[in-house]
Amino acid sequence: MKCFSASFVFLLFVNSLKNVAPAAANAFLNPNTVDGYQHVDMTPESRSGSKDVIIQMFEWTWDSVASECTNFIGPSGYGYVQVSPAQEHVTGDQWWTDYQPVSYILTSKRGNRTQFSNMITTCHAAGVKVIADAIFNHMTGGSGIGVAGSPYTHYVYPGTYEAQDFHYCGLEPNNDIVDYENRLEVQTCQLVGLADLATDTDDYVRGRLAEYANDLLSLGVDGLRLDAAKHIAATDLANITSRFTSTPYITQEVIWGSGEPIQPSEYVDIGSVQEFRYTNSLKDAFLGGGISSLENLDNQGWVPGTKANVFVTNHDTERVQILLNGNSLNSNSPSNTYITAMIFSLAHPYGTPTILSSYYGFTDTDAGAPNGGVGTCTGTCGRNGWLCQHRWTAISGMTGFRNTVGEAPITNWVSPQSNQIAFGRGSAGFVAINNDDFAWSTTFTTSFADGSYCDVISGNSASGSCTGTSFSVSNGSLTATVPARSAIAIYTGATGAGRQSNSVSVAFSEIAITNFGENIFIVGSIPQLGSWAPDSAITMSSANYPNWMADIILPANTAFEYKFIRKEPGGSIVWESDPNRQATTALSGTQTICDSWR
Ligand SMILES: *[C@@H]1O[C@H](CO)[C@@H](O)[C@H](O)[C@H]1NC(C)=O
Ligand SMILES: *[C@@H]1O[C@H](CO)[C@@H](O)[C@H](O)[C@H]1NC(C)=O
Ligand SMILES: *[C@@H]1O[C@H](CO)[C@@H](O)[C@H](O)[C@H]1NC(C)=O
Repeated sequence: MKCFSASFVFLLFVNSLKNVAPAAANAFLNPNTVDGYQHVDMTPESRSGSKDVIIQMFEWTWDSVASECTNFIGPSGYGYVQVSPAQEHVTGDQWWTDYQPVSYILTSKRGNRTQFSNMITTCHAAGVKVIADAIFNHMTGGSGIGVAGSPYTHYVYPGTYEAQDFHYCGLEPNNDIVDYENRLEVQTCQLVGLADLATDTDDYVRGRLAEYANDLLSLGVDGLRLDAAKHIAATDLANITSRFTSTPYITQEVIWGSGEPIQPSEYVDIGSVQEFRYTNSLKDAFLGGGISSLENLDNQGWVPGTKANVFVTNHDTERVQILLNGNSLNSNSPSNTYITAMIFSLAHPYGTPTILSSYYGFTDTDAGAPNGGVGTCTGTCGRNGWLCQHRWTAISGMTGFRNTVGEAPITNWVSPQSNQIAFGRGSAGFVAINNDDFAWSTTFTTSFADGSYCDVISGNSASGSCTGTSFSVSNGSLTATVPARSAIAIYTGATGAGRQSNSVSVAFSEIAITNFGENIFIVGSIPQLGSWAPDSAITMSSANYPNWMADIILPANTAFEYKFIRKEPGGSIVWESDPNRQATTALSGTQTICDSWR
């Protein structure tokens, strides 16, 4: 049955009415199907030694997560992977079907119980812990057969729950949440028609949820992200987690909303809390508000940094922005702000950072994973429609930075103007972020020992040499030019002078969805890129569509601007939106630049 007919319009209404932060869209409503919806969140609480960076492997199959743990995630020093829900869900290719549970059988579109278990074993062997996304708040609405073959109707999931196990709040039409300023309604009415488990009054429900969690823990799961935690009273959630047979890291989706009675701070005794005010503040700061305000984040009235799980975007806000022009930066954000904000997030001590690793799917906000969910990355880029943000040079470089600086406090903070900041982390790391449209050249004071250090934003340090720009520190002074809308970062573990050569091979990769007969070209400011003349633009190959690719030899250590253009069958040309993209070639070797059409 179709239990919910409002949708996107409803969400807009609620948000405009309440002036709610973007993330207050507690559920992402699918505008095209009646009972579509989703939503998620998470928080980290226990840190795995100094390796605390979480990658949210959104919609990756279990086998592909396992391979990526071995091939890249473990060796790169990430602490955790957070994977999509493992339990049986409704059928359908759309990503939000995963948030509509049918049973606790561990078969989902990402694989079965054996594959899930094997993934955990493989990731552990690579030194990576696993966080499972778990849905305690609800079961699906509607009726049908789940992906593991279980039949269901709204409120009856044979062998798991019967009609008496759900809330019927009686406060609104269809028992669906409308008023987020009413605590009882938020916690006992239905999220867009999803059958709301009676976690307050039903001891069987509490026990069954704990049994499910304990099953995951028995397979070696190290942490849980509790989806829709705000829709369960903190006291009820605490009762359920007190039945766990071990003490996993817990991160809870408690989306703060202006004027709402339920506060993220109510949940900190259970575990970490996802701090959406951080997500929203970074968006505002990097899109024009100014980043100089981001020094002290423990005095903002948010949950304490030790209890905060933070991200520049998660899978919900990445999509909600498309519809609501709201909450977070994403890979379509202008002026490189998505990347510079992630660099900030990994450099700053507040909270435990999560990096979303997702796919290009914004033109259709319902779209499920590409390539059958088999995540694919090569070098520093995604393939087959995947973005592989965790492989981007700056992101993996900053993970090494974060692992090295550990708990060291912020030192030597400077901010000569609102969009330029630089700071150290003790004497082990130093970062400068330039969110202005012009380069920032200056001499910084650091606590570094004399030496030559590799900029991990533009390259990496291997065998004592640096594939990117290298900087020398003398008597604590670091003289550098921070490119416009970019950053530089050094840490004590990444040393080495750059080697200069005359040219480098740059592999450009642009994700672009095209119609038959259309082709993508690259054109730019230097002669090798056609000096901005569309007729001289370089053809890109569609062999890895939607990744359009070209390997081009460019002069080393050279700044340039470029854009991608689309040539249509009739001969007309469509340019990407402004501003021009900017990059600087490495000192030697090869380099990869990953973009997506904007
Ligand atoms: C799990 O899936 C794998 C791969 O499809 C298959 O070989 C295996 O038999 C399945 N295991 C179970 C218990 O269904
Ligand atoms: C959890 O709730 C049950 C009732 O569902 C109650 O009997 C039990 O004492 C509670 N446990 C704790 C630790 O509060
Ligand atoms: C190093 O810096 C200190 C203070 O910043 C200064 O007093 C000293 O002369 C400098 N030494 C050299 C060799 O430049």
